[in-house]
Amino acid sequence: MDNLKKLQTSVWQYYREHGRHGLPWRKDTSPYSVVVSELMLQQTQVNRVLTKYAEFMTALPDWQALARASQAEVIGLWQGLGYNRRALWLKKIAEQVVGEYGGELPRDPAELRKLPGIGPNTAGSIAVFAFNSPVVFIETNIRRVFIHHCFADSEAVSDKELAPLLERALEDNRGKAREWYWALMDYGSFLATQQMPNPNRRSKHYAKQSKFSGSDRQIRGEILRLLLTESMSASQLTEALAPYTEDAERIARITQALTHEGFVTLQKDDYKLA
Ligand code: ADE
Repeated sequence: MDNLKKLQTSVWQYYREHGRHGLPWRKDTSPYSVVVSELMLQQTQVNRVLTKYAEFMTALPDWQALARASQAEVIGLWQGLGYNRRALWLKKIAEQVVGEYGGELPRDPAELRKLPGIGPNTAGSIAVFAFNSPVVFIETNIRRVFIHHCFADSEAVSDKELAPLLERALEDNRGKAREWYWALMDYGSFLATQQMPNPNRRSKHYAKQSKFSGSDRQIRGEILRLLLTESMSASQLTEALAPYTEDAERIARITQALTHEGFVTLQKDDYKLA
């Protein structure tokens, strides 16, 4: 069996036995649900997204509700996901869907890309999951599957080399683009848990985490940025910093250092900028 056939067999078998069939954005595949979840999932792990997604959909169940909501409400619902810009993009998308597209999300990936916060891969993922369109898109888990199975001995594999294989797999799974990609992502995140060097290190697009990312210096910056808009208690800070670190003691230590240095003051139980 050739590598691509073997890949497909592995993906479908894994999905049948261990697929994440209960994810709420896989049950509700309306364009609104798909866009909200894909924007949330762009840089945040599935487990953290689950509760935030449920709260968000309850508070703002459709394009109209999101378009009408205040920025403050949307950012409030986004707390704990990080990168508030994405929350504002999402609201702008809703405003455009309601105002310019008659309340219907466009289906064409080229049209989707014109919306704020939607790059080529997010446009592809939305076209696939909302409309079952057989289009190619690549993200980290998908890349891992194809490099592992089809480029076992190669270095610096580019997405351009992967794309034709994704095309062929889509043709082999005609009419099932949505399920095929769900399965691919689940199998790709499973491969990440296996004892082997990460296949994505052999991707041309592999970006090693910078020294800055996750550092004390980054967390200091995030604390100051948060306190710029409002004062926050220690537990509110911990909640808001969850995308960067979940270590409450570490956050407390960095906040105290900022207080000692005179950048931050403590008033009652709230930290604020000095
Ligand atoms: N299901 C649909 N989109 C997903 C994503 N981006 N990550 C994980 N599961 C998904």
